[in-house]
Amino acid sequence: MIKWPGSIGRHTKDKDGKTKYIASTQMEPTDARRAFPCFDEPALKAEYTITLVADKGLTCLSNMDVVSEKEVESKMSGGKKNAVTFNKTPLMSSYLLAFIVGELNYVETKSFRVPIRVYATPDKDIELGRFSLDLAAKTLAFYEKEFDSDFPLPKMDMVGVPDFSAGAMENWGLITYRVVDLLFDEKTSGASTKERVAEVVQHELAHQWFGNLVTMDFWDGLWLNEGFATWMSWYSCNKFYPEWKIWQSFVIGDLQNALSLDSLRSSHPIEVPVKRADEVNQIFDAISYSKGSCVLRMISRYLGEQTFLEGIRRYIKKHAYGNTKTEDLWAALSDASGKPVENIMDVWTKYVGYPVVTVTENEGSNTIHVTQNRFLRTGDVKPEEDKTLYPIFLGLRTKDGVNEDVTLSGREADFEIPSKDFFKLNADHSGTYRTSYTPARLEKLGKAAKDGLLSVEDRAGMIADAGALASSGYQKTSSILSLLKSFSGESEFVVWDELLTRISAIRSAWVFEDQKTKDALKAFQRTLVSRKAHQKGWTFGENENHVQAQFKALLFGSAGLSGDEKIVKAAQDMFKDFAAGNKKAIHPNIRGSVYAIALQNGGDAEYDAILNEYKTAKDADERNTALRSLGRAKGEKLIKRTLALPLSDDVKGQDVYLPIAGLRSDKEGIEALWQYLQTNWDALNKKCPASLGMLSTIVQICTAGFVSEEQLKEVRDWFKEKSTKGFDRALEQSLDSIRAKASWLKRDTGDVEAWLAENGYLSKSGDKL
Ligand code: BES
Ligand code: ZN
Repeated sequence: MIKWPGSIGRHTKDKDGKTKYIASTQMEPTDARRAFPCFDEPALKAEYTITLVADKGLTCLSNMDVVSEKEVESKMSGGKKNAVTFNKTPLMSSYLLAFIVGELNYVETKSFRVPIRVYATPDKDIELGRFSLDLAAKTLAFYEKEFDSDFPLPKMDMVGVPDFSAGAMENWGLITYRVVDLLFDEKTSGASTKERVAEVVQHELAHQWFGNLVTMDFWDGLWLNEGFATWMSWYSCNKFYPEWKIWQSFVIGDLQNALSLDSLRSSHPIEVPVKRADEVNQIFDAISYSKGSCVLRMISRYLGEQTFLEGIRRYIKKHAYGNTKTEDLWAALSDASGKPVENIMDVWTKYVGYPVVTVTENEGSNTIHVTQNRFLRTGDVKPEEDKTLYPIFLGLRTKDGVNEDVTLSGREADFEIPSKDFFKLNADHSGTYRTSYTPARLEKLGKAAKDGLLSVEDRAGMIADAGALASSGYQKTSSILSLLKSFSGESEFVVWDELLTRISAIRSAWVFEDQKTKDALKAFQRTLVSRKAHQKGWTFGENENHVQAQFKALLFGSAGLSGDEKIVKAAQDMFKDFAAGNKKAIHPNIRGSVYAIALQNGGDAEYDAILNEYKTAKDADERNTALRSLGRAKGEKLIKRTLALPLSDDVKGQDVYLPIAGLRSDKEGIEALWQYLQTNWDALNKKCPASLGMLSTIVQICTAGFVSEEQLKEVRDWFKEKSTKGFDRALEQSLDSIRAKASWLKRDTGDVEAWLAENGYLSKSGDKL
């Protein structure tokens, strides 16, 4: 039997306690060659006829529909087997092939032109596949229309695989998923889980055209696949769920992920040369996905979404069953728009990093002076690193509306504005850059936000920029603290989300500082969020608005974890009820927060109850939430118990990061993680081979919490002796982020203390008030 790459996952025990197995492949990026001899390159497309030989009674799936089945004699076991042959595939890349054999149930819909099925192992309630199934039917029909191109395969199967290293994989006609990203239970899961499932389904379906029908020429064009599928999943989500306001979330999600990673020296251009297989896996990151989708959003806004999509239709028509380079996409967009897209976009995809746009106001005239420079989180850009000049859409918002035509293509320029009373650049944050204002202007913008002059995206993006600029030394941290404070009356979810993210970033960098300062920062968070949290409450109606549900959950968690007594008490009451057996005592929207608050204020009993929930709950989302929150437990003993989980048989390879991620919230956890990584290095490598990508995540979780030069040196020295193949990018990025925090602290600890004292969170002598 061929040992297939990817997961040969144990899935369940049957009635007699016998372990059952499912065989499932994961070829992308470079593992088809391990399954069968082939020219395993995306550009070397071929037609494949697959036959799977398996025990009778097992379901066999591949990209195409079944053409015939027959009984054959097994050469290995001597018994009778079933040989299932599938129709020949269209011309396709090897990385998109898939084979699955196992005991599987399914639900099916015929509401799309070709049948769609959702499959899962028998231990799961297959009815939970309905949400994804129906969404897939609607989405495929929508994509056929948007792309003006029929889905070319005779069926679409979507399979929940019990142990799966990524989130999902777009194999043509046979998409594989983590169970938690495919099955959805309205009764036991909350709004954010629903959004995630919708995102994943729509993302993988977008690949059926973008990636599968038209494929990048080579892996250095990976962004074409992933950046576009990311953009398209949001575009589609916005069509089906406009009330989710997904593009607002984009500004605090993908945009910030992109700007965050790309502010490190160890980032890479969107189009990045890759030479070896282990380098390919590492570029499935925030640059390919998030920055890729950001530059597409930027150009789609500039051309107009409809023109952009017309370009996409031409691109698909021209290159169907073929391969492309980035230039081909720009050519199609130029063709559709009549605009020189390649000239504008080349710099954005071929160079690492992005600019910070500094705005000053000229005396005596209604003009502003705008300059661009490379932005680095470490704040130490050298002249030779600051040579790239980006074509920047300045998106000038004034009282007259947004002027989309103002662009900066050189280093600096002056621009006229109608009045200095009010202006803001990068309207809606459609551009992939940060803007630095003078402290006085920033204060005025804070006021403009209150006066309703800024969009939600503007407010959230402006806070994000100010936070990032403070952490890298372009501004003082005290000025972002003042700005955050001025937003206490803010009404929108995503703005609050970004606000709290920025407070968290400060608290994480300050995690090794003295307790009084840390308590003062916590008190600031609590003061800011408590009133709003109480006002919104933490009960959820039958038809709770999707965004409001997440808003309530965010405020509840933030207030509770920063010590709001009323919320801590409410969480503890719910938890008690839950631990006594009432599974409905905690609403799914706040389940993670209630667990975390119970653990933060509790001990062994709470830990045992949550661990028990992890071990016994049926639903994958419920189990994940429990496992994830265990890292929130305090004290040496419980930290030790949490650290025993990743390598135990209780936790699958796909989930090792879940229990440990939460340990980064305090210094004991961060130190324990680093010890843990060193002690268990070999075992971790064995359970999570570097080639699967998970090791990168583990290395980052176990090192990136550090904040000082000494800690950085310790990590770097330890890895000097090791092979870093397969995770060298992640390690370098982790070290860079420690470096950035170390300089931040060096610059601003005094500034922050002074602000905390001035604002009544810390007495001048250092005592907490
Ligand atoms: N093509 C990827 C899956 C993949 C990731 C293969 C890494 C090989 C290495 C797939 O389309 C994907 O992007 N999946 C995402 C989910 C998506 C919604 C962002 C994932 O796995 O997280
Ligand atoms: Zn993808």
